[in-house]
Amino acid sequence: MQSALLLLAAAGAAVAQLATVKEPSRADIAAAAATVVPSSPVSNVEGLAFKRFYQVWLENIDYSNASADANQKYLASKGITLTNFWALAHPSEPNYAAAAAGDMFAMDTDDFIQIPQNISTVVDLLDTKGISWGEYQEHLPYAGFQGFNYSDTAANDYVRKHNPLILYDSVAGNASRAAQIKNFSSLWSDIASNTVPQWGFITPNMTNDAHDTNITFASVWERAFVEKLENSTAFWNETLILLTFDESGHYPIQNKVFSVLLGGAVPKELVGTTDDTFYTHYSTLSTVQANWGLPSLGRWDCHANIFQIVSNKTGYTNYKVDTTNLYLNSSFYGPLSTNTYSNYSSVWPVPLTNNDSCAAGHGILPSVKSTWGGKAPTYNYSSPFPFDTQSHKDINVAFSRNGSTWVSGVNNTILAGVTSNSTSSNSTGSSTSSSSTPTHTGAASVNGASGVLALAAGVAFAFAL
Ligand SMILES: *[C@@H]1O[C@H](CO)[C@@H](O)[C@H](O)[C@H]1NC(C)=O
Ligand SMILES: *[C@@H]1O[C@H](CO)[C@@H](O)[C@H](O)[C@H]1NC(C)=O
Ligand SMILES: *[C@@H]1O[C@H](CO)[C@@H](O)[C@H](O)[C@H]1NC(C)=O
Ligand SMILES: *[C@@H]1O[C@H](CO)[C@@H](O)[C@H](O)[C@H]1NC(C)=O
Ligand SMILES: *[C@@H]1O[C@H](CO)[C@@H](O)[C@H](O)[C@H]1NC(C)=O
Ligand SMILES: *[C@@H]1O[C@H](CO)[C@@H](O)[C@H](O)[C@H]1NC(C)=O
Ligand SMILES: *[C@@H]1O[C@H](CO)[C@@H](O)[C@H](O)[C@H]1NC(C)=O
Ligand SMILES: *[C@@H]1O[C@H](CO)[C@@H](O)[C@H](O)[C@H]1NC(C)=O
Ligand SMILES: *[C@@H]1O[C@H](CO)[C@@H](O)[C@H](O)[C@H]1NC(C)=O
Ligand SMILES: *[C@@H]1O[C@H](CO)[C@@H](O)[C@H](O)[C@H]1NC(C)=O
Ligand SMILES: *[C@@H]1O[C@H](CO)[C@@H](O)[C@H](O)[C@H]1NC(C)=O
Ligand SMILES: *[C@@H]1O[C@H](CO)[C@@H](O)[C@H](O)[C@H]1NC(C)=O
Repeated sequence: MQSALLLLAAAGAAVAQLATVKEPSRADIAAAAATVVPSSPVSNVEGLAFKRFYQVWLENIDYSNASADANQKYLASKGITLTNFWALAHPSEPNYAAAAAGDMFAMDTDDFIQIPQNISTVVDLLDTKGISWGEYQEHLPYAGFQGFNYSDTAANDYVRKHNPLILYDSVAGNASRAAQIKNFSSLWSDIASNTVPQWGFITPNMTNDAHDTNITFASVWERAFVEKLENSTAFWNETLILLTFDESGHYPIQNKVFSVLLGGAVPKELVGTTDDTFYTHYSTLSTVQANWGLPSLGRWDCHANIFQIVSNKTGYTNYKVDTTNLYLNSSFYGPLSTNTYSNYSSVWPVPLTNNDSCAAGHGILPSVKSTWGGKAPTYNYSSPFPFDTQSHKDINVAFSRNGSTWVSGVNNTILAGVTSNSTSSNSTGSSTSSSSTPTHTGAASVNGASGVLALAAGVAFAFAL
């Protein structure tokens, strides 16, 4: 026990080793908690629309239930309601993983998962400009704890599956990075000492996040939490906070989640408004990239729609999506899939390495290029989404572009009635896409092609390579 803990304090390598201990003993945890010092680097890098970006994720609530809750309505009245924000899969863990690295690598469980060192995350992007970052996980027993769960009672409390960055060895295996994954006590002390990071991810425990309670309980908690943040003028000022949910509560339905943007960075004239642009959890990456001029990870973040609060300042045009047949409620074939499909793939998907249009024209992270360059990318950007299945059935949903609108279809056929080639389709969806010469660099690579682009079998194969 003692040697492991001394190593933990001394070297990143030891941290990586500890990660394989799913449930460290209480004595090991107590000893580590007594020695590990949380780290709070400070930076002040200006951004186009905000100086800090924070996400707070609740759990497993259908859009209709969340939008009907009185405290969610109250919070929405203080900011911008995102009416078309989508989660990406079920169960929880792939959604959290996706928000950190632009892919879920076909994860379809909440298991103890470690994602290899050569997969880059938002941390590597922020590091290119020295932008400070941190996570605040309620009741994490000490900074950088890598166990599967932690609780002082018989009830669920802290869980690894809701901690996005701990899943990545490139973060968890680096002691100085792991020390920036902290608990809620650190949040309040960082606010008090003016050492909050510029990028933050906040995970309440399994009671407060609705997982083991319900939307009423979690919304009471969330409103009080947000009001406490608002009371800290220094924190609130110039901060954009995304309140969202990891996924819908029911698996077979469309995986849309109620989401609100608030904080001091929301312009006064937009308070109480709605934004109907199509977003996903990947939009949190593309928005941060556009705000601070950061490169892309070359994965599904590459062309993800950017929150209007930022895209409006860049002239970037978000694409529109016909969501009639969109579900985004299942993962796909890949290395973390536990499905026994015949085309299960053990290969880690290869990111784009030569696409300058990613990240609204900021290109690809240099270390992604050097690690993965020269290999054929797995990603098929004839589609802006992960290849998907409907309702956990083997019905392939593909995406293709019809004019300026992305449409979903089944088995390489655009569903009848989903869309038409009428030019009026340009005026639906995003209110930013009025330009007849799209400046949307992401769409540029697909604008040239028309009609049905995404071949269902082809995309499935791309992931199975
Ligand atoms: C962690 O999870 C395991 C298996 O799911 C369970 O048996 C155990 O009681 C949990 N421990 C804590 C501290 O929550
Ligand atoms: C979750 O955190 C709250 C404090 O925010 C605490 O009252 C509650 O007991 C915690 N849940 C568990 C299961 O420990
Ligand atoms: C560990 O993290 C620090 C801070 O992000 C970074 O500067 C350093 O390069 C990382 N070390 C390795 C070996 O990745
Ligand atoms: C919501 O959860 C809380 C805490 O578990 C519980 O007291 C309350 O009865 C629940 N409400 C409903 C409507 O289930
Ligand atoms: C915010 O500050 C006001 C005024 O000091 C206080 O009355 C209120 O209780 C505070 N709210 C929270 C949630 O801390
Ligand atoms: C917010 O920050 C800006 C820029 O630093 C400053 O000019 C302004 O006074 C601050 N507002 C408040 C309410 O602190
Ligand atoms: C949502 O609301 C419906 C209707 O009241 C209810 O049946 C369902 O259980 C609720 N739960 C979730 C998780 O959304
Ligand atoms: C973005 O620009 C559009 C068109 O001018 C406007 O309607 C919308 O309110 C703006 N949205 C944000 C979030 O700035
Ligand atoms: C990335 O790591 C995985 C797992 O160790 C390995 O299979 C793969 O070959 C590596 N890819 C590259 C390009 O380094
Ligand atoms: C609709 O969008 C397409 C592609 O972006 C463009 O070529 C066309 O001119 C637009 N039509 C109208 C009526 O704006
Ligand atoms: C799509 O193709 C699969 C495999 O060929 C088939 O089982 C399924 O029924 C098809 N779905 C539709 C809606 O045609
Ligand atoms: C829409 O455009 C595609 C590609 O040009 C064409 O194949 C298809 O027939 C058109 N559909 C309709 C309903 O006009």
